[in-house]
Amino acid sequence: MKNERSSFTGKIGFVLAAAGSAVGLGNIWRFPYLAAKYGGGIFLLTYLVLAVTFGFTLMVTEIAIGRKTGLSAIGAFKKLNSKFSFIGWLGALVPMIILPYYSVIGGWVSKYLYTFIAGPGRAMEEGIGFFNQFVSQPAEPLIWFLIFLGITAVVVFLGVEKGVEKVSKVMMPILICLSVVIAGYTLFLPGAMEGVRYYFMPDFSKFSVELVLGAMGQLFYSMSLAMGIMITYGSYMKKDVSIESAVHQIEFFDTGIAILAGLMIVPATFALSGGGELNQGPGLMFGTLPQVFERMLGGQFIGILFFLLVLFAALTSSISLMETVVSIVQDKLRWTRTASCIIVFVGALLLGIPSSLGNGAWSGVLLLGKDILSFFDFISNSVMMPIVALLTCIFVGYVLKPKTLIEEVERNMVFRSKKLYTVVLKYIAPVCILLILLTSILETLGILAI
Ligand code: PHE
Repeated sequence: MKNERSSFTGKIGFVLAAAGSAVGLGNIWRFPYLAAKYGGGIFLLTYLVLAVTFGFTLMVTEIAIGRKTGLSAIGAFKKLNSKFSFIGWLGALVPMIILPYYSVIGGWVSKYLYTFIAGPGRAMEEGIGFFNQFVSQPAEPLIWFLIFLGITAVVVFLGVEKGVEKVSKVMMPILICLSVVIAGYTLFLPGAMEGVRYYFMPDFSKFSVELVLGAMGQLFYSMSLAMGIMITYGSYMKKDVSIESAVHQIEFFDTGIAILAGLMIVPATFALSGGGELNQGPGLMFGTLPQVFERMLGGQFIGILFFLLVLFAALTSSISLMETVVSIVQDKLRWTRTASCIIVFVGALLLGIPSSLGNGAWSGVLLLGKDILSFFDFISNSVMMPIVALLTCIFVGYVLKPKTLIEEVERNMVFRSKKLYTVVLKYIAPVCILLILLTSILETLGILAI
């Protein structure tokens, strides 16, 4: 079985595929909002410091686990220590929960790309009203969800080298170019500079514990950590590639695109709607932005480029989610890739239907006060991911010992940040993760406002 395992052809393929997973909706619809909310420059600075310490440590750990064992999450933990295979099981559940609802959102993005190409009149005029009308229909969002999930399945079906790697190598460079072009364009809008100042100028008075926790939570999600993705991708990595420098490059991509997304969105919103409170999530992407595009010269064209960019970002992320689930099914059940792809596709389709209907026909169904999609989002990101990350740190730090993974990183390179890695893994990361977990639970219970 292990000998047949496919792999990325080299470092560039690996880095682009992992960066493709990391760069997603979170970079585009959440990072700019958080940065604007938490005092611009000071948030960026905090985020960068956390990325090169905390994010770096967790990502190195996952990739090294994958490459050392050559297996996806469940098998990997079992091989390292059979008593701890439950961490792998927990981690494997996360992408299974995320893939269906992430694809529902991917469907919305596909619909918007289509709408902007076909003629975005009402979408731009009515903003969020148009979106609400679209998602409340029973059939149309389901069809777009099916299309998005179908494209994801085809890429995963083609395999690691011919599907995942090839698509990442094409989509990621285009995504970077689109980000630069759109950000460049919005910077020339009259009044944009005020937004740029607001986005970058550090407002030290806004530094707070909430800011750090907000940045940490975002980092986690943005780097696709604690859900077995990086373990799976690590298992496809060749032994002669440097894990340390690959992680630096992935972080550079992920943070770079997040900052560029802010440069596209914050100044444009400032210039065209006079600043005010920037919102996040669907409201920003499907409500505010189309109205901002309407007021731009060539707004339809910019809209097409923008939704193409978002579609690529969402697709490379959903591909990584499905690839992870498929590789778990293949490893665990020893099924062929084709059979595994089919079963995962059907499963995600069935699980995604409630999330899709939750904004329309089933909007009365609330779990913990949230619609179905937001509920799955909360359980996976705010509860399960911190738990998996915490258990991983404790397991590697105290049971397996960091030395085991350091050896994997050091196979044929020097591990420059070895000391930092050990300290963060054993002491700093567990405390920080516990704090993220507590705040997100307190926030949902309405005891804390972040
Ligand atoms: N990292 C992705 C983002 O920033 C989110 C993601 C989550 C991707 C889960 C894959 C899996 O949007």
